[in-house]
Amino acid sequence: MKVNGTPYRSVWVNPQDGWSVHIFDQTRLPWSLDILKLTNLADTAHAIRSMQVRGAPLIGAVAAYGLCLALRVDASTDAMERDAATLNATRPTAVNLRWALDRMLTQLRNTPAMERVAAAYAEAASICEEDVAQCAAIGRHGKALIEQAAASKPGTRVNVLTHCNAGWLATVDWGTALAPIYAAHDAGIDVHVWVDETRPRNQGAALTAWELGSHGVPHTVIADNAGGHLMQHGEVDLCIVGADRVTRTGDAANKIGTYLKALAARDNDIPFYVALPTSTIDWSVADGVTGIPIEERSQAEVTDITGRTASGEIVTVRVAASGSPAANPAFDVTPGRLVSGLITERGVCAASLAGLHGLYPEQA
Ligand code: MRU
Repeated sequence: MKVNGTPYRSVWVNPQDGWSVHIFDQTRLPWSLDILKLTNLADTAHAIRSMQVRGAPLIGAVAAYGLCLALRVDASTDAMERDAATLNATRPTAVNLRWALDRMLTQLRNTPAMERVAAAYAEAASICEEDVAQCAAIGRHGKALIEQAAASKPGTRVNVLTHCNAGWLATVDWGTALAPIYAAHDAGIDVHVWVDETRPRNQGAALTAWELGSHGVPHTVIADNAGGHLMQHGEVDLCIVGADRVTRTGDAANKIGTYLKALAARDNDIPFYVALPTSTIDWSVADGVTGIPIEERSQAEVTDITGRTASGEIVTVRVAASGSPAANPAFDVTPGRLVSGLITERGVCAASLAGLHGLYPEQA
């Protein structure tokens, strides 16, 4: 996607040296667009854990490059397995991380140690290229749903509600939930987005709003608790969210608060879609509520908030009563029964075993 007219992806190999890896420091957005250079395993693990990079497909792609950086130091099999395990332990919920590392290891275990670095960079690049193509396809399939909504209310804008950030910053390019919105906007459909702020880390207010604004998509940031009210008053035509892990029965883990939006959407008869690439499906899990590990993050993310003052200083302040403890489950699971459809690069299917098997007959 373009920022101020310059096309970017969210991760790329530094063209100056051909091996270090560039990312945007997402903890600095929307205040500044800082490019970070990753040069080793520790940098990469820190970037994922601290959420300098985040979003399920992107952390898979960055972890793949992290393994490339580690292999430059030691390409032996023991080191490779150990370093992949270090990267895999950085965040537990998004299955794309495990998927990308498994894919790298499958390729590299059969490659002689001397050839591993080159093979690793080639595989990481393929993961990125495939992610871009898949997100573009998700955009095309999801756009049809927005078109349908537009056709049902000619002359008025289509209002889409989204949660967290499932845009190009969360993937390599385009995004998952935002890809259909970009496709619809670019096709001239009058689409407006309700952006959940997404406490505690504000991925909606900080990242989604910045992305949509940079692309010229009309949007409005809302408090997380406003969605149900807007739905009751006819202000939401459909919801589209991303996912960190989708089970074979169609249960979807996504940023904390997604489940409540799905409940409100069901009560108001509003379609609720989950957009994801194949790398987000965990075929080994059936029940998402019991089978998907939910990351518990630091209390400080809830008790404190970071923002920019009028004078331009970026500060973190405490908002909770001093001394009160906080709990911070970072994701929740929306059961497939509350999901109107899964938007994948292969098309749209029911959020169920039968629906997924229809799109993925090789898994049936
Ligand atoms: O904790 P985060 O910011 O990594 O969580 C991200 C989300 O929940 C996204 O909605 C999800 O990864 C989909 S990304 C295309």
